[in-house]
Amino acid sequence: MMEKIKVPHAAGEYTIYAGEGILKDAFGEFDFSKYDRVFLVSDSNVWSLWGEKMTEVLASCGITLAGHYVFPAGETSKRLETVSDMYAAFAAASLTRRSILIALGGGVCGDMTGFAAATYLRGIAVIQVPTTLLSQIDSSIGGKTGVDLAVGKNLVGAFWQPAAVIADSAFLDTLPRRYIDDGMGEAIKYGCIWDEQLFDAIADKSIDRAEMIARCMKIKAEVVSTDERDTGLRAILNYGHTIGHAVEKLGGFSRFSHGESVGIGMLYAAKVGEAMGCPKDIYGRILAALQAWELPTVMDYAPEALIDAARADKKREGDEISFVLLEKIGKCYVKKVPISELAGMIQ
Ligand SMILES: NC(=O)c1ccc[n+]([C@@H]2O[C@H](COP(=O)([O-])OP(=O)(O)OC[C@H]3O[C@@H](n4cnc5c(N)ncnc54)[C@H](O)[C@@H]3O)[C@@H](O)[C@H]2O)c1
Ligand SMILES: [Zn+2]
Repeated sequence: MMEKIKVPHAAGEYTIYAGEGILKDAFGEFDFSKYDRVFLVSDSNVWSLWGEKMTEVLASCGITLAGHYVFPAGETSKRLETVSDMYAAFAAASLTRRSILIALGGGVCGDMTGFAAATYLRGIAVIQVPTTLLSQIDSSIGGKTGVDLAVGKNLVGAFWQPAAVIADSAFLDTLPRRYIDDGMGEAIKYGCIWDEQLFDAIADKSIDRAEMIARCMKIKAEVVSTDERDTGLRAILNYGHTIGHAVEKLGGFSRFSHGESVGIGMLYAAKVGEAMGCPKDIYGRILAALQAWELPTVMDYAPEALIDAARADKKREGDEISFVLLEKIGKCYVKKVPISELAGMIQ
């Protein structure tokens, strides 16, 4: 079944197409008539696994690519030099302001191609075709695009809404297990902050991947369309991220992936919540959900070290850190917590 989720934004609206094996149907429905050329960007892994299938699907919709650009897979490619090469490829393919890009890949490809789309000729259209669990449920929706600098991640970017997002869960058939784990941390997060029934279905593994993805996408879509420019509600998407980022950093960005760190960060957030009077079953339920998916649950860093690492967090305001806490599973709120009291809460 193909789900269609409408995402309104300041300049209009786009559709998210989600489901298992929906690639061809979704591209068939997308109206290409107002675009003069179609250009595809992908990374080396995704292009070798899925390039042929993608070209076939487009051909079946009567579309021939004006060109394609493939960059070496991985976060290290997510920089301005790659975008600059991309611009050269766009120019060589004679793209105009009426052309459209297709970003086929994970969050690296989506963020970077989105940024190239936002800036080339002061803005051209882009269809996001996310191929990792994380990019399907998180990075492809919301219009945040950008690249890394040597001094930090995602420091240069733009808000640029896609013309459509096409998320076919069949892409996950080839996705290595560690990237599934990475995305599952975020999937559990959506249940925690928004939807108890989704949380329970993930925890007892009674939901199939296509439905889980569509439901997570709906939550992200609702949050980002309420807060397009990240000035309010989007903060709740950071549940588990304050200490999660610290866990990621203390592990040298290699011991735990981002999603795994968020999983551990949610356990710490549950501890903070308990100290602030939130229900005591939250910790145990999150722990069980992480264990069901075999995600790491070790909390072996010293509280002081975690707090030092979290001090640099952009959510910090003076001596307080904004924490997303759960009133119950499925309902969250944001609360400022004094840094001086944190260590005692997460012992
Ligand atoms: N824009 C946002 O709102 C937002 C939100 C969260 C994360 N991000 C960004 O997303 C990026 C991480 O995304 P990611 O985890 O998707 O990383 P990624 O794009 O590097 O993909 C992870 C790996 O999986 C491979 N891959 C992708 N799809 C595959 C498939 N179907 N089969 C086999 N291999 C496949 C890739 O080649 C890569 O090696 C980070 O740069 C992060 O900053 C952005
Ligand atoms: Zn995250």
